[in-house]
Amino acid sequence: MSPVASARPGRIRVMLVFGGRSAEHDVSRVTAVAVAKALDPARYEVVPVAITTDGRWLHAREARALLASSRAALPVAFEVEGEELDELGAVVASPGSGGLGVDVVLPLLHGPYGEDGTLQGLLELADLPYVGSGVLGSAVGMDKVMMKRAFAACGLPQAAYLSMRDGADRDEFCAAVEGRLAYPCFVKPANMGSSVGVSRAADRAELESAIDRALAFDEWVVAEAAVPGREIEVAVLGDDPPEASLPGEIVPGAEFYTYADKYEDGVAQGLAPAPLDEDRVAEVRALAVRAFEACRCEAMARVDFFFEEHGRGFLLNELNTIPGFTPTSMYPRLWEVSGLPYPALLDRLVDLAFERHARRARRAGRQRA
Ligand SMILES: Nc1ncnc2c1ncn2[C@@H]1O[C@H](COP(=O)(O)OP(=O)(O)O)[C@@H](O)[C@H]1O
Ligand SMILES: [Mg+2]
Repeated sequence: MSPVASARPGRIRVMLVFGGRSAEHDVSRVTAVAVAKALDPARYEVVPVAITTDGRWLHAREARALLASSRAALPVAFEVEGEELDELGAVVASPGSGGLGVDVVLPLLHGPYGEDGTLQGLLELADLPYVGSGVLGSAVGMDKVMMKRAFAACGLPQAAYLSMRDGADRDEFCAAVEGRLAYPCFVKPANMGSSVGVSRAADRAELESAIDRALAFDEWVVAEAAVPGREIEVAVLGDDPPEASLPGEIVPGAEFYTYADKYEDGVAQGLAPAPLDEDRVAEVRALAVRAFEACRCEAMARVDFFFEEHGRGFLLNELNTIPGFTPTSMYPRLWEVSGLPYPALLDRLVDLAFERHARRARRAGRQRA
């Protein structure tokens, strides 16, 4: 047995952190239910922890109630026996996993205060293994301005863009958008996801209201040239080296891939795998790994592209370090069609969390020696 494998305890107590303060609270709850159902109860004990929209951390019993009121049914796995978790402040107060008896944390929070490095920093301080990118990769992956800079610095293809901070000269920004990007363009908050606050603008009046809408969610906004192309997504897994799944394709039901399209009326179609020829598949997989590395991601990310078939080819849109994770979400589906079923994917992610924790502990040990 490798030293890494032996770092995996017998029955693993996995803390699912879900909900959260972002606009994607509901999405996170649906994901949490699906993940809890897929974790084999013989091997995992699930400790659910909910974060409310106003930022309160609820212990297991209240978390179960919150899950029960989500759209999906309450899974049996949430009937945790034994002690209830205390207020989550205890995680920070007691370094190491000993205090709570949690072996690994699975952050299932989308958007700010969860996917953006904040929770990851807390878990680093608490010295707990956790699934997914660390502080840096999470933060870069959440901020569309910094992410685009990282892509540009690594020579990766993307649409032309401009960014603006709240309070900057609005007319000057609009004039720059008209001069350098032209209409139609897309305006987005820098820190968000699930298409929240994203709009398409076809003239100055629409641009102005799109900026207002985006600024409601973040102090920074990004405007970018609209790309007329298909939407292709690739799932990346692992660190050393990261591996890319087969690509998938989103066929939006609305004018673009909106929040309602993603989660409510379900008109958007996800094709897994995407109909692309072999060379294109190889090309987009390689680009996905480069994008993942450019943002210093770890363990998992879904990398999203536009594909101008007869034009510029693949252009990066963004990556998500905690992608949608229900069994029908693109990330798990892409691994499924690439030969890794949902429960095995969760095992792999948990293993990666233990591996990183063990690697860091070894390095810290060497430093002290
Ligand atoms: N430059 C663009 N050209 C064409 N469509 C875009 C562009 N930017 C965003 N969109 C559309 O808006 C959706 C949401 O934008 P995205 O940048 O992915 O934000 P989010 O992080 O909220 O998912 C995309 O899936 C796509 O349908
Ligand atoms: Mg997106």
